[in-house]
Amino acid sequence: MEQAASPEPADLADPRFWQLPAPARAAAFAELRSRPAPVFFGDRATGRGFHALVRHADVVEASRTPAVFLSGPGVTTPVPARWVRLLFGDSMVNLDDPRHAQLRRIVSRAFTPRLLDRVEEDIRRISTELVDRIERERPEDFVTTVAAELPFQVICTMMGIPERPRRTILDLVNRTSEDIGVARPLRRRLRVPGRGLRALARMQGIVAGIGRRRRRRPEEDLISALVTADVDGRRLTGRELGAFFSLLLVAGVETTRNALAHGLHLLTVHPEQRALLLADLDGLLGGAVDEMVRHSTPIIQFNRTLAVDHELGGSGGPLLRAGEKVALFYGSANRDEEVFPDPDAFDITRTPNPHLGFGGGGPHYCLGAHLARQEMTALFRELFTRLPEARSVGEPQLVPSSFDHRVRSLRFTF
Ligand code: HEM
Repeated sequence: MEQAASPEPADLADPRFWQLPAPARAAAFAELRSRPAPVFFGDRATGRGFHALVRHADVVEASRTPAVFLSGPGVTTPVPARWVRLLFGDSMVNLDDPRHAQLRRIVSRAFTPRLLDRVEEDIRRISTELVDRIERERPEDFVTTVAAELPFQVICTMMGIPERPRRTILDLVNRTSEDIGVARPLRRRLRVPGRGLRALARMQGIVAGIGRRRRRRPEEDLISALVTADVDGRRLTGRELGAFFSLLLVAGVETTRNALAHGLHLLTVHPEQRALLLADLDGLLGGAVDEMVRHSTPIIQFNRTLAVDHELGGSGGPLLRAGEKVALFYGSANRDEEVFPDPDAFDITRTPNPHLGFGGGGPHYCLGAHLARQEMTALFRELFTRLPEARSVGEPQLVPSSFDHRVRSLRFTF
């Protein structure tokens, strides 16, 4: 008897895929997860394209085997051009050891539990000010007035960015990341366009200027700590500093803003989960925050490049060849039915919740995961304690992208 051929999988490399409604994309990923091996999208003969890693176990394996799955030359699509990297410096997400470990060691000094305890107070103060503002001004859009504002003000405060250039920097951050992986307009391929790069250059110029001043006269802030730090007897170059600050702003602001917006919307469209949470805010908020990150998965994918031939899942597994790329689809891993019972349900009591929203572990695991959790917890605690009726109105305005689950705006009321 003839066996039925597997249907053609949805083409993840086609920008149009990322414009499909969420249920259609989820169904495509579920179908890909059910296959015995990752599907290659693109032309394998020429090496252009990627293996789609869609299962939890595969994303974890790639993340935790960094000597095989390299982050260089880049983890986004397309990889940053060589001239861009020379001009702007290599971002640590795109580096491998030893340079990655070296940079991560310095930068981690800013994220120790002791320092994050100190930041907790700032986070609480900023959250209180934001809810004051909601009550006073009754803004319509949750994203610009609340969700983007909190992580941005927190990072600026940690870094020691003075009040004056903050508005300009926020505007530049938005422009820098607006187009990464965006599948719109259709005729263009996924790209990082010039507009974003000009914004990046200006932003790095501002931060480098502050860095130079702090090097001469250090203060009690992150920029001072980093510009006066020595890495293994070597100082960071100005470009490395600029690259790190841009990464922090883009990685720390956009992701948290999208998680907060998705979070408010999820609690609105799941009233039973919301009632549960409000009945025991202290007991359930931590789990709710992680479930928001799992369910919305703010970063859709990062890539890796194979250093050597590798059999996925051990000997006899699907062969990935040296030089080929893999895409780690965090959102798909977070809906893997082998790991998460009833994976599409939004369940704030889910335990355990080994989601990969902050990465699959390994050396590049999100440096700001704890900070992001602190921010989300503080904001929702303040919001629901003072305005228990706070909820989204209508559907979020989403930006189609293969890179992040970006929310452009979300109307809300209280
Ligand atoms: C809900 C919010 C956030 C999400 C969903 C998120 C997600 C991620 C993911 C998926 C990675 C890649 C992990 C990997 O490749 O294994 C990452 C890396 C990173 N994140 Fe986050 N992130 C969030 C918030 C933040 C914040 C608040 C900061 C800092 C202020 C931050 C800083 C970074 C940095 C510096 C890296 C690169 C680490 C490295 O390459 O060593 N993130 N994040």
